[in-house]
Amino acid sequence: MNNFEFKNPTKIIFGKDTIDKIATEIPENAKVLLLYGGGSIKKNGIYDQTKTALAKFETIEFGGIPANPEYSILMDALKVINDENITYLLAVGGGSVIDGTKFLSAAAVYEGDTPWDILTQNIKTEKGMPFGTVLTLPATGSEMNSGAVITRKETQEKLAMGGPGLFPEFSVLDPQVIASIPERQLVNGITDAFTHVLEQYMTYPIGALLQDRFAESILQTLIEVAPKVLKDPTDYNATANFMWSCTMALNGLIQKGVPTDWAVHAMGHELTAMFGIDHARTLAVIAPSHYKFNFKAKKEKLAQYATRVWNITEGSVDDKAYAAIEKTESFFQELGIDTKLSDYTKDYDGTAEKIAKRFTDRGWLGLGEHQNLSPDKVEEIVKMAY
Ligand code: NZQ
Ligand code: ZN
Repeated sequence: MNNFEFKNPTKIIFGKDTIDKIATEIPENAKVLLLYGGGSIKKNGIYDQTKTALAKFETIEFGGIPANPEYSILMDALKVINDENITYLLAVGGGSVIDGTKFLSAAAVYEGDTPWDILTQNIKTEKGMPFGTVLTLPATGSEMNSGAVITRKETQEKLAMGGPGLFPEFSVLDPQVIASIPERQLVNGITDAFTHVLEQYMTYPIGALLQDRFAESILQTLIEVAPKVLKDPTDYNATANFMWSCTMALNGLIQKGVPTDWAVHAMGHELTAMFGIDHARTLAVIAPSHYKFNFKAKKEKLAQYATRVWNITEGSVDDKAYAAIEKTESFFQELGIDTKLSDYTKDYDGTAEKIAKRFTDRGWLGLGEHQNLSPDKVEEIVKMAY
């Protein structure tokens, strides 16, 4: 097992009817900016619950943060923060609203020329403007981690940022919010969380027995609850397990002491930037090709995953590993997620070359757990995903 340090300061408030608890988490004299997305919270009662909880605070609102949070819109929110002397941010939404809020938390204290540099120069925020979240969509784990991904339409870029100062101070996880989530977003959430675990697990054995079993248990739980959540998103037990699995998939715990990959996300983010494909769907497009291309380096973990998660016990290591890739792709397809780029766009010619060039231009010359996935290999993987 590798050496590691682990600190996750986010307080999780989990359970039924917990949104009102934000009132005791936000400092009394705070001037709050309430941030939300396209308006789903106004239809499902989450907005009303939040407003009631915020009654004693001076609060200003900023709505309209789109899926794949857009830089130019966030810059409008930054102006509100500065003009109104906001001291506390409250994100009420899914990964996009929370990520947008993390960007604002960083940008509000940033002293450089333009906040876009936070993304292009990989500036790690040590201490941002404090913020909390009310999670409305289980998927990204953003509610308990310190990363964010921001989009800039103008340049077709989607870049990651983060830093130890960007953990939410608290996150409210009330599984009842899941009742109003459209099926498309539910399957996205399952697929995203599932792939988060794979990115931190599907590398090579390093003797981290506990981390492996944490990872496998999250995968098994997602497989078990997925049909129940889709059949009845008001099934409290199923949705509670789904929500907690998504958070645990990317709050840092399972990646401690082990090698991690994240190349599927790096390639997937480019597909979202270029074609606007939902984040989770880009992962389902890339992952099967990525595992086939890197079969030799990953086959031991693939075979372990085959046996422990999919109960594939027959055959050689290679047989099991290959069957595991097939099982994974079928799982995504059974959720209703297409797994080829050509299912999403007819305009895919040249995509692989373009992504490889972008990685070269950014100096991303070696992705993956061995840092040996060069742009020419990325090009091959993306082509396999057409
Ligand atoms: O905008 P509103 O009207 O709220 O509607 C949203 C949005 O259209 C809707 N929704 C959310 N909660 C709902 C609901 N509809 C009905 N009832 C509810 N309770 O769902 C739509 C999608 O929301 P979004 O926040 O975009 O989805 P998700 O949580 O999947 O977030 C995706 C973003 O997170 C980034 C992705 O790249 C993408 O930009 N990621 C962030 C990560 C992180 N910070 O750690 C890691 C991930 O790998 C990912 O990259
Ligand atoms: Zn993801």
